[in-house]
Formats: sequence, C-alpha cells, structure tokens
Amino acid sequence: PFYTETFRPQFHYSPETNWLNDPNGMVYYNGEYHLFYQHHPDGTTWGPMHWGHAVSVDLIHWEHLPVALKPDEIGTIFSGSAVVDWNDTTGFFGGQSGLVAIFTHDGTKPDSGEKFQAQSLAYSTDNGRTWNRYEGNPVLLDENQADFRDPKVFWHEESNRWVMVLATGQTISFYTSPDLKSWVLASVFGENQGFHDGVWECPDLFQLPVNGNEALKKWVLLVSVGDNPDFLEGSRTQYFIGDFDGQTFKNDYSHDTTLWLDHGRDNYAGVSWSDLPESDSRRIYIGWMSNWKYANLTPSKSWRGAMTLPRELSLAMTEQGIRLRQLPVKESAALRTETIELKRNEFMAGNQIVYTPETNAYELEAEFDIKEPGVFGFALCSGSLEKTVVGYDANAQKLFIDRSQSGKSDFHRDFAVKHEAELKPKDGKVKLKVYVDWSSVEVFANDGELTMTDLIFPDSSSRGVEWFAEEGSVQLLSLNVHLLKNIWA
Ligand code: FRU
Repeated sequence: PFYTETFRPQFHYSPETNWLNDPNGMVYYNGEYHLFYQHHPDGTTWGPMHWGHAVSVDLIHWEHLPVALKPDEIGTIFSGSAVVDWNDTTGFFGGQSGLVAIFTHDGTKPDSGEKFQAQSLAYSTDNGRTWNRYEGNPVLLDENQADFRDPKVFWHEESNRWVMVLATGQTISFYTSPDLKSWVLASVFGENQGFHDGVWECPDLFQLPVNGNEALKKWVLLVSVGDNPDFLEGSRTQYFIGDFDGQTFKNDYSHDTTLWLDHGRDNYAGVSWSDLPESDSRRIYIGWMSNWKYANLTPSKSWRGAMTLPRELSLAMTEQGIRLRQLPVKESAALRTETIELKRNEFMAGNQIVYTPETNAYELEAEFDIKEPGVFGFALCSGSLEKTVVGYDANAQKLFIDRSQSGKSDFHRDFAVKHEAELKPKDGKVKLKVYVDWSSVEVFANDGELTMTDLIFPDSSSRGVEWFAEEGSVQLLSLNVHLLKNIWA
C-alpha cells in the first residue's frame, strides 16, 4: 500500500484502517520487532479495545498483521506488555521459549454490573502470529481498585523473578512472580510523588547507564498521566529517576519534582521494547502521537492515530541532575533519500522562504550561533494562510512550537496554541533536529536534551520552509534538509 489520504503519516506507523491509541506488547523476538497497539477495528474512534499488530525488521518499515487479541467473555483488551519467556517459566512452551502477552482485561461483573480491571495472559508459539488465552485468566485482580491496569513486565536478573509495574489509580504498584501466573504485591510508589492531577497510566521501568558509564546506572520510571480539563496540556508523560531493588522504587529527587518526557502536546502512553538482543544495549521507546483531550476528534478519515518515531532513550548528567535524553533511533537515517544543503555560516534576518519540498515529509537539521539574543527559527508547512513555527526565544531561553495557525484546528478549542519549554544554549549554540510528516512535527533540541512532539493539520499545499529572525543577531551555522521516503511504498 502507499497511503495518500489527507494527513496520513508517510514514515510514522499508523494503522491500515480505523482507530489506534497506546503502543502495547513491544518485544523483539527471532529477528522481528513487534508492535501491538490499542485498536478499535470497527471504527475511527475509541471503542471496544483489541490489540492490533505490526512487525518490523528494522524499526522503520512495518508490516500490518491481523488483530492479535480480541475481546472475550472476561472483557475487552486494554494496554499491556509482552516478554520472551526464555526459560519456559510458564510451562506454555514445552521447555522452549515463546512470547507471553500480559494485558489488562477491562470488564463488567455480570451480577452487579460493576466495572473491573484485571491482568491476564496470552501466549504464542508462532512468533506472535496466533495467540492462545491462558485458561487461568485473570491472573491478577484486586476487588478494591477500579483503575488497575497497563502491566509492564520484565525479568529482574538479580532477584531471578518477573516484575510487573502496574498503574493503580494515582500510584504505581510493583508485583513479583516466578512464572507470570501468580503475583505477589511488593510495594507501592507515588503517593505525593510527582504530578497527580490525572489518573496514572502505562508505566514502564528500566535501567540505563548515566553518560554511558556502566558503573553508574539508574532506574527510570515512566508514568503517563491522563487528561485533566483544568490543564491545557492534556495527557502527558512524566518520569522519575531512582533505584529499584526488585521490590521497591526509590525516587532520587524531591517528591515535588516533576520531570516531563516530552514538552509537546502529542506524545502519550509510550513505553519501551523488551528483549532486545544481547548485542544491542539500547532502550528503545515509542509513544502514541496524540492527546486524550482531542484524540477522538482529529481530522482524519479512514484511520485515526499514529506512533512517534522509535526513539533511543539515554541518561545524561546535567546541572539540574540526571535527565532523560531522546533521539530517533539510528535506523532512521535509512529514511533519507536526498540531502539538500541549504545554508552555511549566514546571518539570519527577517523572513525568507529557503526551500519548498514536494511533500511535507522531511528531516531538518540546523545549528545556530547566538551572537545577540533575539527570537529566531523556522516557519514550516507554511502557505499563504498557515504555518507551524518552531522557534527559539534566546532572551527567555525557551524553545517553542506555535501551532496556532498550523492548519485545521477547529475540532478542539485547546488545539491552536503556542507552547514552550526551557532550553539553555550550549556554548552559545542551539541545535535543532525536526521531523515533519504530513500531520506531525517532532523536535529534538540540543542532541535530544529537549523533545517536543505535536500534531498539525496543514493543507498539503502549505509546504514552505521559511526562516525568521527578530531582533538580536544569530548566525546559522548550517541548515540541511533530508527528504524522507514513504515507508509503505
Ligand atoms: C492510556 C489508556 C490506558 C488503557 C488504554 C485503553 O491511553 O487509557 O490506561 O489501558 O488507554 O485504551
């Protein structure tokens, strides 16, 4: 297929038809990266949840596969994870290895009509192509918790057990198990920690070296926070940095520190791949490129929802402490078809259209040297009436995206906004890497120190790449545009 519907991403994963939300069950096995996702196969809005399925051998090109998990007598299939059971701890695989999905069943009790959420298992002996439900489902139920979902499971070497990280209201609960079937509560984290104005969802927990130093490793706990109408930001993802001993997570920072994974509006419910080969020590993440504030209303037709680019996560020591870094996986370089070197060592002034690609699918790389602080950057997808501004305010030291005139925005009153986040220049310089893909813009600033992901809905004729500089003085050290290919062609 070669998708050409209005607003259809050209190099980001989107479902062949109908609705997509959270990425689920991401696991690498026998040479394939699996991507499952929250899917409503009968409509373009959220509905009875299934797990859609796709596979890739390079994280760039995806093959759509049939729906993997369908609602059953227990309930619909909410978010969760998948692991390789290498040592057949479950006994599902006759001594071999195989894939186990651990997901939330969202159901209604037949007697009382009350809602419940419980964790269940399914397993596959054919590389995820077909799935068997475990007859002992559900494996984890708590009558007293209404929000009890999104299990992320991993094998904890040191304690020789499985650990489940679960969203439980506005806390995260950690459970352990020898066999994925019987689970014991180990601890609860989060009361009075971080941001609480929304339900906690889709956690993930993993360890990473700081500044690449294997002798200094920290644990990262990702926690997505649901939409709260009182906040313009809508649903977004926070993270914590600390230690985990197999039982308990200890936050390194004060309880009122909130760290955001992405400073844009459209990166939610993201988690990381499990079981990357031993030769690959990366932690690779993908998020759902939308926001619960308006996810059901975005102006696409036969499909709705897409993922971010797969991103490599790392930890860096900064003046403020240890922080997450994100960059598109190195495989993304394979998307480039042609590189246009536009500028080198030029002072920017006023507005100027510097390039007009044939289609809004490209990666822009620019480096600025700030001589005297001002406001500068790019108007992208610009046409006579539209533009998406990706800029830097060197006085305020803030990076911003202004999508107030980016195109279609009448579907929700909070969509057409400008938003910003703090970013310090490095030796007086600011570096931007921007991916534009028909209906999205992903900005990676200063080598992944700050990320902003936004949906936009420009007319396909609005394609100008325009620079601007107001006040101050800024030298554009380099400006390259890499044209990117359609991954489905
Ligand atoms: C997050 C979420 C999860 C839930 C799923 C339902 O976006 O609300 O908590 O499992 O979506 O589709």
